[in-house]
Amino acid sequence: MVGASSGIGRECAKQLAAAGVKVAAVARRAERLDQLKGEFPDKIIPFPHDVTNTDEIPDLFMRITQELGGLDLIIYASGVMSDVGRHEFNTAKDLPMIEVNVTGAIAWLNEAAHRFERVGHGSIVCIGSVAGDRGRVGQPVYNASKSFVATYMEALRNRLHRLGVRVTTIKPGPTETEMTSHLHMKKMPVEVAARKTLQLVGRSGEFYLSPMHKIAFFVIRNFPSLLFRRLSV
Ligand SMILES: NC(=O)c1ccc[n+]([C@@H]2O[C@H](COP(=O)([O-])OP(=O)(O)OC[C@H]3O[C@@H](n4cnc5c(N)ncnc54)[C@H](OP(=O)(O)O)[C@@H]3O)[C@@H](O)[C@H]2O)c1
Repeated sequence: MVGASSGIGRECAKQLAAAGVKVAAVARRAERLDQLKGEFPDKIIPFPHDVTNTDEIPDLFMRITQELGGLDLIIYASGVMSDVGRHEFNTAKDLPMIEVNVTGAIAWLNEAAHRFERVGHGSIVCIGSVAGDRGRVGQPVYNASKSFVATYMEALRNRLHRLGVRVTTIKPGPTETEMTSHLHMKKMPVEVAARKTLQLVGRSGEFYLSPMHKIAFFVIRNFPSLLFRRLSV
């Protein structure tokens, strides 16, 4: 579980551990990972790591598979969303979203894809977002990073499906986590988002976590660009 120290990733790690699954918990905040290990001493193995240090990933991936005694599932839930103003074009705020949401995902999931292709089974899950479905005025780079995730995951799915590897893109809507704690809107409880995510493991495809979003984002994705621009959302 990459991004296991808070939010959706932490909750997925907890639910997996509670179900008896051994989980490698990866994120920067070591104390959070130790806390998680405290809750599930036999099931959680902490691996403090910053996904922007991509050079470390091949060795760390190998160490994790050895310590777990194999690997059936990887969930990439690391992500950041910078606080970007409506009229702000700020590269220093934009680039971390690419480094974590895009580059980190590629570096971790390529390792998993390579291993799973070789052994002929495994599940790859990446947390994308409904935010990747259109380019919106509020978060150009966050939107683009999630759009990248959707396309990259589709390509992995197309490469690996016939080999028995399942590739799942999760597109949550607003969810109650640290990332959105400053946003005042209706949000899905993180326990629910994690439970729904885990129910989708092993299914190849792209999934929204609520039936409403499936319909709403079908319409939003197909809305003509000119009209979408006028909405200024
Ligand atoms: N919350 C929402 O409404 C929502 C909606 C749609 C999609 N999502 C997506 O869901 C995913 C999880 O987000 P969340 O809402 O659960 O947010 P969160 O509570 O802020 O969790 C983000 C996770 O990413 C990890 N992370 C951030 N930078 C990292 C780095 N450099 N190296 C390693 N790990 C890093 C954090 O760990 P450390 O800080 O300890 O490193 C943390 O575990 C993200 O991809 C987010 O874009 C969230």
